[in-house]
Amino acid sequence: MPPRYRTIAESLRQALDSGALRPGDRVISARRLAEREGVSLPTAVEALRALEAEGLILARPRSGYFVCGSQTTAPDASRPPQAPQDITMAALARSIFSGSADNIIAPLGAALPDPDWLPVAALQRALNSAARRLGNGSQTYSPPPGRADLRRQIALRAADWGARFGPEDLIITAGETQAMRLALRATCRPGDVVAVESPTYFGVLLLLESLGLKALEIPTDPRDGLDVEFLAQAIARRRPAAVIASPTVQNPLGASLSLEAKRALVALLTRADIPLIEDDVYGDLGPGDPRPSACKAFDEAGIVIHCSSLSKTLAPGWRIGWIAAGRYHAEVLKARLEESLAGPPLLEAALAEFLAGGDYDRHLRRFRPKIQAGVRAVASRAEAQFPQGARISRPTAGFLLWVELPAHIDALEIHRRALAEGISVSPGQLFSPQSSFSHHLRLNCANEPTPRLLRAIDRLGEICAKA
Ligand SMILES: Cc1ncc(COP(=O)(O)O)c(C=O)c1O
Repeated sequence: MPPRYRTIAESLRQALDSGALRPGDRVISARRLAEREGVSLPTAVEALRALEAEGLILARPRSGYFVCGSQTTAPDASRPPQAPQDITMAALARSIFSGSADNIIAPLGAALPDPDWLPVAALQRALNSAARRLGNGSQTYSPPPGRADLRRQIALRAADWGARFGPEDLIITAGETQAMRLALRATCRPGDVVAVESPTYFGVLLLLESLGLKALEIPTDPRDGLDVEFLAQAIARRRPAAVIASPTVQNPLGASLSLEAKRALVALLTRADIPLIEDDVYGDLGPGDPRPSACKAFDEAGIVIHCSSLSKTLAPGWRIGWIAAGRYHAEVLKARLEESLAGPPLLEAALAEFLAGGDYDRHLRRFRPKIQAGVRAVASRAEAQFPQGARISRPTAGFLLWVELPAHIDALEIHRRALAEGISVSPGQLFSPQSSFSHHLRLNCANEPTPRLLRAIDRLGEICAKA
């Protein structure tokens, strides 16, 4: 039997879901709730606190609890410049990342899950077991394309969403970052233009900059993702060497293309004979369960270069990713050897074992509701506490929130002031080649919504309001 406060919290949650109470409405007081349910006052308070921890209601001093949420609107689709841009991002990124303090109390910056949410003990068991199995062989090299047992497990999982690749088409890489770098090396030459989402993940911009490539930004909607029609027009004007995008759960927007849009994107690029570098690192997080097909499922011509890793869901520190490069396989394999010679056999074998034993699926079943609750909690709190005029994305999947602040606010300044108080955020300047999103913030919500974290969001709201 669940404790009484939980059943009371559940019935209140149903009342909120039914729409009977709307954002901003006052919630029943603890005293009346205790009377109505025939429980003690502390039990009623505990039920209300449980809803507050989920971000559904918010206590206002001396006024009681109020329903959170949805009074703000989401940001509009972006309208980036139509010409390719040079990228000068590395110095800014270095200064932001080197400033990250050790005393972070609210890790809203890096897009990383709370380590407490990761199945650390089960990962350790897989490591021990692989070490026993491999013996001294665990200390040697795993040459490209990487261990066959791991490639087989990755291909098996991908077959569930309709991937058109088998173990022989996969190459194991050092995280997804290396996979995308190899894909860009195989498809582009210095000076080439690459079409990117707007806003886009800053790691993509750093890669383009380091390879001497230019970015052509394509409007991207916070709900529907990349504008495929706009891309078609842009391609007709100025043919990019490649398109790099996250069609499933975009960073920072959390948007995903519908299956029809994915199909249309692959068809467009097949006709134009332009490779699509598909960043699928958030793919296992939805939207929906089971996860939707990636673009690679619709790729008959081998133009989709599928890149992914388990950094967002399982083991960021293991630095294991992969690439299914379609018709670019041979070039990518050559570049993989040149770049870092070999991978770590122990980690590859342990991951293969972890995936084969079903531990990853069990972990995902627990992990997904946690990140959904984390997003709800941060979003509701930010909606209640951020200054008037702030617009907050409503991602259907993933664990990132994109916040558009009033235009006069400098996100870099907010980043600096918040960091001084132990609150990390990612300033919008990181997400476009020319700092177009200077009044935007990205917030990582994959954290336990503790009272301390929620207070940090209140404080962030105050810092923004004072700016
Ligand atoms: C969209 C996106 N792609 C790729 C990566 C990098 O993945 P990895 O840690 O596997 O290199 C990240 C990490 O933040 C990301 O957010």
